[in-house]
Amino acid sequence: GNTPQREELLVADATSVDAPIPGAPGPVTHGIPVVGASSQDGLSLAEEGSTAYVNVLPAETRTDHNVIAELPGEDPDNVVMAGAHLDSVIEGPGINDNGSGSAAILETALMMADTEPQNTLRFAWWAAEEQGLVGSADYVAGLSQEERDRIALYTNYDMVGSPNYVFMVYDADQSTFPAPEGVTIPEGSEAVEDVYESYYTAIGEPYDDTEFSGRSDYEAFILADIPSGGLFTGAEVVKTEEQAAIWGGTAGEQFDPCYHLACDTYENNDDHALEVNSDLIAFAMLTFAYSTETVNA
Ligand code: PHE
Ligand code: ZN
Ligand code: ZN
Ligand code: ZN
Repeated sequence: GNTPQREELLVADATSVDAPIPGAPGPVTHGIPVVGASSQDGLSLAEEGSTAYVNVLPAETRTDHNVIAELPGEDPDNVVMAGAHLDSVIEGPGINDNGSGSAAILETALMMADTEPQNTLRFAWWAAEEQGLVGSADYVAGLSQEERDRIALYTNYDMVGSPNYVFMVYDADQSTFPAPEGVTIPEGSEAVEDVYESYYTAIGEPYDDTEFSGRSDYEAFILADIPSGGLFTGAEVVKTEEQAAIWGGTAGEQFDPCYHLACDTYENNDDHALEVNSDLIAFAMLTFAYSTETVNA
């Protein structure tokens, strides 16, 4: 039987169990006894005499890179940014999360490459978002106050083509979605939100607000008081009947049933959502390329 003392050492991931030859010493230096599966010697891993170990590898440090592309405008001191994280979780290829946002801003950047914008356009493909917003946080931390002041606004695109989508816009109104304590959504963010919402309205696509609470790479920007906004089509949350009546799709299923899973492949996108949002991302970038007056009034 399992003794309580050993249960405390439960490690859930049975796939990483390394079962040594019975009687031989454990093969790993970082071995932890495991509960809940059975070892090759027929004993429950929790049982006295079990010789199974979990091979816990030492923490590993890797280097990852943000990719930044800038198109200088007439005004070098008024920078309009669009960002999307380029990494995925280890479990899957991350096509909706976040190949969708990465591809959409890449397409926009390519289409605008031959233009001569008024404002400077800066595109960012962030590293290691899934490891805790690492790339974007590092980027903003590395900017001087003067460099931060040159950024008129930041826009974020993380999951913009979910298979069971709802069109959502980060909501700058703190009365709708209270921001975490001590965090104020920067003034001007409302005007970014307005651009998205007026576009959805103009093309007759329904939209809703979504929480602006720091679950993606915009966090470092709002903490640095840089006006921000962005789009989202849903992750692990289950679609309601009411939402299915508005956007179609399947009630009772997640917006993205393959969220953070191996099945987040090329099949895991809704083409309509991706097309509408790609156009909108280009529209927003083009709008702010001409002027950020509504944001930085
Ligand atoms: N940042 C989340 C992820 O990459 C996705 C997400 C974006 C969730 C925005 C909520 C809001 O997994
Ligand atoms: Zn993710
Ligand atoms: Zn993501
Ligand atoms: Zn709104």
